[in-house]
Formats: sequence, structure tokens, C-alpha cells
Amino acid sequence: MPVEWAGSGPGLLVTIDRGGGAGLRTQLEEQLRTAIRAGRLAANEPLPSSRELARALGLSRGLVQDCYAQLQAEGYLTSRPGSATRVAAGVVSPHEGPAPEKSSAERVRHPVADFQHGVPDLGLAPREEWAWAVQKTLRTAPNAAFDYGEAVGVRALREVLASYLGRVRAVAAGPDDLIVCAGMQQALGLVVGALAAAGVRSLAFEDPGSGANVTDLTAAAGIAAVPVTVDESGLDVGALARSGAGAVFVTPAHQWPTGVVLTGPRRQALIAWSRATGGVIVEDDYDAEFRYDRDPVGSLQGLAPDCVISLGTVSKSLAPALRLGWIVAPPRLHPALARGKWRADRGSPGLDQLALAALLESGRYDRHLRRVRAEYAARRETLIAALHRHAPRLAVTGLAAGFHAILHLPPGTDDAAAVERAVIEAAAARGVGLYGMAKMHAQAVPPKPRLIVGFGNTSRSAIEAGIEAIADLLNPPLRRG
Ligand SMILES: Cc1ncc(COP(=O)(O)O)c(C=O)c1O
Repeated sequence: MPVEWAGSGPGLLVTIDRGGGAGLRTQLEEQLRTAIRAGRLAANEPLPSSRELARALGLSRGLVQDCYAQLQAEGYLTSRPGSATRVAAGVVSPHEGPAPEKSSAERVRHPVADFQHGVPDLGLAPREEWAWAVQKTLRTAPNAAFDYGEAVGVRALREVLASYLGRVRAVAAGPDDLIVCAGMQQALGLVVGALAAAGVRSLAFEDPGSGANVTDLTAAAGIAAVPVTVDESGLDVGALARSGAGAVFVTPAHQWPTGVVLTGPRRQALIAWSRATGGVIVEDDYDAEFRYDRDPVGSLQGLAPDCVISLGTVSKSLAPALRLGWIVAPPRLHPALARGKWRADRGSPGLDQLALAALLESGRYDRHLRRVRAEYAARRETLIAALHRHAPRLAVTGLAAGFHAILHLPPGTDDAAAVERAVIEAAAARGVGLYGMAKMHAQAVPPKPRLIVGFGNTSRSAIEAGIEAIADLLNPPLRRG
């Protein structure tokens, strides 16, 4: 039944389907959201009163009031006592939303495509689900939830997370093994501090990898950072043993940045190293949510909870801006980690933690992941197809999980860094942003020029156009004779 209202603002067509599957309130909310996002209801435009709209649509006034309250909570509408409910200023479509400054600057520099890595699609951030979870939290949380909480995190979240990680990542942990923190970055800082307090003098890291970040954190804690080479099977455990390091930071699910998955034998060797030397394994279980054409590989922590500290984050699965992550650690490290977290900030924001717990518990987190995984899988296919079409002889690796690939460029006569730089500069001149592997190395750069091509925040059409625009830069020259 299509109904038009004619209130104080302009008329707007709203269709309420009484025979359909969706509830009446859901239909009304969704249509108002869509109208606001599409600009059909402009900022500051007054909405009809709840009484007026209810009468026009044949709905109860309470239902319309609830709908307005929900959209206010989500930031679509505003209201002041004694004046009409209005469309809030600054609402943007989740898919057309403004990107952060860095990305918009990148877009200006790279109008065809920017293959930046490390960022999920910010347009796919679950705005509505998060608004639902925050609103539910505000409605149902007891007053005590507004106080300082436990520094190690709100118990309700730790309980839900422990069971979620057990189910999805084969992590062996109960709520008391978890510390909630501000993303992987704070997690690693706290872990480095706790390891230093436990007498660890050096932390090994993967090379290529996050060397600059690790070195920064270890320097602050007064311990050494030691690079250990990564090969086609992942971290070279023999080299780790020779390094004498007391702990190692690894990305087994999808090595950053090569995209290699740590093989079964290497996992076993790493755990054997830990058991033999007492070395601590710090696992960044990063990108594990996004795997495509291989069987799921559980976390290392699940194999050896006594040897492994596992770090997780919602930065890729939901959005980096939420700054929520966790540490799963053996009990012996808990007091130092809890003290570090207290010292840093007295605990992560409690209401956000409850909202994350609500998302996980309600199944919305899983549903969101299924949705975005399908989109990233489609982008990955687009990238593979575009490379196949435009640069068929190029070697591509690292695509088992996550949202970046490694392109192995034809070696030039110059060193790898110079070859990468030349391709990056030529691509930039054509409006395509590319990023090289050489600068991810801490030790001597091997003579293999490679590009890290991110597709998390790059649309399918941009992927296609970007690869087409740089095809000749990627193709190895045909050998004569
Ligand atoms: C290897 C790796 N792990 C995890 C993250 C996520 O960090 P955070 O949770 O602090 O946002 C990043 C961010 O770029 C990363 O490069």
C-alpha cells in the first residue's frame, strides 16, 4: 500500500507492505534511512509529527515514535523539545561516505585506483549494526556499567569473545585469559612491556614484516628487536633459533606482508622451539577472518596455549576507528599485562566493549563478516581476472587470505628497490597508487622486486581500471631467441 504524507515538509512516498516478511517498523525505518541517505530528505528538513505520520500510514503512533527514536539514536534525525523532528545534518551514505583525509588525498593523487593495503573498505563498516548495538547497550546496561570497569576488560565481552574465538579460531581460552585493549597496536605494546618485565631481552620479528613498528615498541621497553627471514613456508624457525631471541612476533594466518601461510611443519617447529628454549610466541592473528581457497587454519595459540600469546583486533573485520582488540595470554603473564593496561588507560571504553559483546552475541558480527567476505572475495576474483587478462605472465602470490596480493615484478638491471620505485612512479603518473615490498625489509633487500597490492578499500571497477592502466609496467619482457 503506497501512502504519501503531506505534513509540514514536502510529501514523501512511503510504501508499507503489510503482507511482506519485514516488520512494519523495520520497513518504515529502512525507508526513512534510505530517503535521508539518498538526499530525498535533506538536512534540517522537518518530518511530520508522529501522530500525523501514523494516521497517514495507518500505523500506531507508538510505532512511529519508536522508529523516530531509533533513527535519532543512529544519528539520522534530531529533535529538540517543542520543535519538529528533523533530518540531521551531515548524514552520508555508508557506501559514498567521506573517506578519512589520507584516503581522499590518495584519491586525488591516484584518481584511477589506489591499491593501498592494510585498510578494509570503510564504506562497508557496519554503521547500522553498530548503532543497534550501542543503542541496546544504552538501553539495557546497568548504571554500574558507566563506572570505571576492570582494566582487563568488561567481563561480559571477555566471556562472549572467549567462546567466539574458541569456535571460530580454535583459541583455547576462558574469560580470565583475555585482556581487552585498543587494537593490536596497544596489545603488542603491552605484551612487549610484560615480556621485558619478565626478563626477555630481545623480540624477533618477521622480515619482511612490521619491523619499524616492532622496533619502535621494543626500544621504548628497553629490549632489542631482531629480524628473522621469512621464506615460502613462513618464518625461518632455524634462523629464529640461531638468533637467540627470547620471544618472537609472527603473523601465521597470513604473513604480513608476503601473504604466506605458516605451514604445518613450521608451526610444529616453532612450538618445539618455544618448548625447548622457553621462548614466547606472540601471534598476530591478523587477516584470519578473511580466507578464501584453503581450509581454515586455526590459531597457533590453540595448539600450545602455554607458549603462545595471541593478539586480535576488529580493525579489519569492523573498522580501525573502533580501536578494540584483545590479548589471549598464559596466566603467568596476566598480572604484568593487567598492570600495563591499568597504567595506560584504566581499561578500554566499557560501553563500546558491551556493544561489541552485543554484536557478537546476536550473530550480527558473523552476518557482517559473511557479507564483507563475499565482497572481498569478489574483489579478489576481479584482481585475479584483470591480472590474467592484462599481465598473464606475472607471478602472483599471497592471495589465500586477507585483502592484498604480492605481484612479483620482472627483475631489472637495477636493485629491487629501484625497480619497484620506477614502476610505482610510472603508475602514479597514470593515476594508479602502488606500494613496494623493499621498504618492508629490515635486512638486505633480496633481488626480487615485488608490489603489495591491496584491494580492501579499492572498488571492483577501480581494480579493473587500475590494472588495465599499468599492464605494460607489470608484464615481463618476452625473451627472444
Ligand atoms: C600486521 C598487522 N596486524 C594488525 C593490524 C591492526 O592493528 P590495530 O588493531 O592496532 O588497528 C595492522 C594494521 O595495519 C597490521 O599491519
